[in-house]
Amino acid sequence: MHAHPDTMAILVTRDLTRAYGRFIAVDALNLSVEAGEIFALLGPNGAGKSTALRMLATLLPPTSGDAVIDGLSITRQANGVRRIIGYVPQMLSADGSLTGYENLMIFAKLYDVPSTEREARVAEALSFMGLEDAASKLVSRYSGGMIRRLEIAQSMMHRPRLLFLDEPTVGLDPIAREAVWRHIMELQKEFGTTIMMTTHLMEEADTTCSRVALMARGTIVALDTPDRLKSSLQMPGATLDDVFIHYAGSAQESAQNFKEISRERRTARRLG
Ligand SMILES: Nc1ncnc2c1ncn2[C@@H]1O[C@H](COP(=O)(O)OP(=O)(O)O)[C@@H](O)[C@H]1O
Ligand SMILES: [Mg+2]
Repeated sequence: MHAHPDTMAILVTRDLTRAYGRFIAVDALNLSVEAGEIFALLGPNGAGKSTALRMLATLLPPTSGDAVIDGLSITRQANGVRRIIGYVPQMLSADGSLTGYENLMIFAKLYDVPSTEREARVAEALSFMGLEDAASKLVSRYSGGMIRRLEIAQSMMHRPRLLFLDEPTVGLDPIAREAVWRHIMELQKEFGTTIMMTTHLMEEADTTCSRVALMARGTIVALDTPDRLKSSLQMPGATLDDVFIHYAGSAQESAQNFKEISRERRTARRLG
């Protein structure tokens, strides 16, 4: 596969679709993410953001369509894709009964980091995420922000080119959120990692993302830079919250059901 001359897309989706029975959770998603971007999927609960990320991370097969990451198809070359991506799910993915160091060591082995390099890589990850002092503490005693930073460190052990983060700051207080963000931005700067993420915090997306896609009911209803989306409302002082309400507002009430609310609260509780 050759890169298109006028684009540096690291990810391109082609009618990416996931149905559950008759219900279409992600409906023919078409978008592309440029190398080095911090790109956010925004949208009400149930919009299909996590489903889209799980498909892109090769954890859930699409029912139709495909996506190409760095020239590799997520459906036909999933193993190759797994080597160049990292994924941090919405739910807990670190082992609370182990220390931070031990969790990172497991991921270093899982990702085939050569044994002679593991110690150094783990030490680097701990320092990069500001967890040196907590390295030998059990993760069950970490704060929510520390757990998130550890999970990001885990997903970076093999230095992926593209990192998927599903609600990396959900349930975190503003200080913990700031720390998570500072480290994500450093990753992006230091390693040129492309980030594709989801968040419910519009202000966070506004200040950190190069572009955002607003999803509702499985489809993209708006996609652009935060600034252009805000000016598209032709409303002085419009925020990304206004953009969200304008494009996804009507879908919001109907899409949020009890199951999603309880799931959301559960996630918030375990991190909070
Ligand atoms: N395993 C599943 N079986 C049936 N429906 C599902 C399953 N997973 C997700 N869904 C439904 O797909 C829709 C999109 O879910 P999700 O991708 O988690 O949304 P978001 O992350 O935007 O909140 C929701 O209506 C959800 O209930
Ligand atoms: Mg989700």
